[in-house]
Amino acid sequence: MTINLSYYHVASEVPKESSDIAVVIDVLRATTTISWALNNGADSIQVFSDLELLKEKASKWDPTKRLMLGERGGEKLKGFDLGNSPLSVTEDLVAGKRLFMSTTNGTKSLQKVENVEFLFSMALTNRQAVAERIIALKKNKILILGSGWEGSYSLEDSLAAGALAHYLIENYNSEVNIVNDELYAALALWHYWKEDILKCLKTATHGKRLTSIGNYEDDFKCCSQLDCLNIVPAQFEKGVIRAS
Ligand code: MLT
Repeated sequence: MTINLSYYHVASEVPKESSDIAVVIDVLRATTTISWALNNGADSIQVFSDLELLKEKASKWDPTKRLMLGERGGEKLKGFDLGNSPLSVTEDLVAGKRLFMSTTNGTKSLQKVENVEFLFSMALTNRQAVAERIIALKKNKILILGSGWEGSYSLEDSLAAGALAHYLIENYNSEVNIVNDELYAALALWHYWKEDILKCLKTATHGKRLTSIGNYEDDFKCCSQLDCLNIVPAQFEKGVIRAS
């Protein structure tokens, strides 16, 4: 069966027609953090764009089994347990807990495609795991969605979209049809930067933004590690993601 793969770099670009699978990417840093949180034993992650709603839902959860993650502009929000660093979601903090999470862009992209039957969260860390799941599902229409920055293009999400498309082209033993120019461009980006992913992340506008507000060196290293986690974060009820 042919796979039809398309890529949109921000939620507002997503066309109305439905897809069988949606893959949401926010390399810096929401989907990297999600992959690490689930790898470290978090029970689930519930995503919100609205902070008040997040607080309301979290307040109804057992306090010993919840954490609130809030980030705006790259920084942790006051009153939240954690920000959006993949290094902060350690096993001793997150194991067995529900994480109530809101970030500037990533969680909005996840909400945009919450009606798609199979919704996965992907970063560079778990690219291979998500790609193998896509191959196993044998579905026809796959939409890859980046998160960008407040509606604009982001280099690092496009790099990961290209990395996913490249893996599928190499490993799916049937035709992979690249549907749009955005994905051809993402593939070209992958071929250009694949030997120096870390540099790509630091070159990206959001990489520079993070560098301008603090020392994010270890976050960059963590976010640039390709295929290091065998985790497929999937939506199992609207807005709630679990390892699957
Ligand atoms: C986002 O959702 O925009 C990002 O994950 C921001 C960040 O680096 O924390």
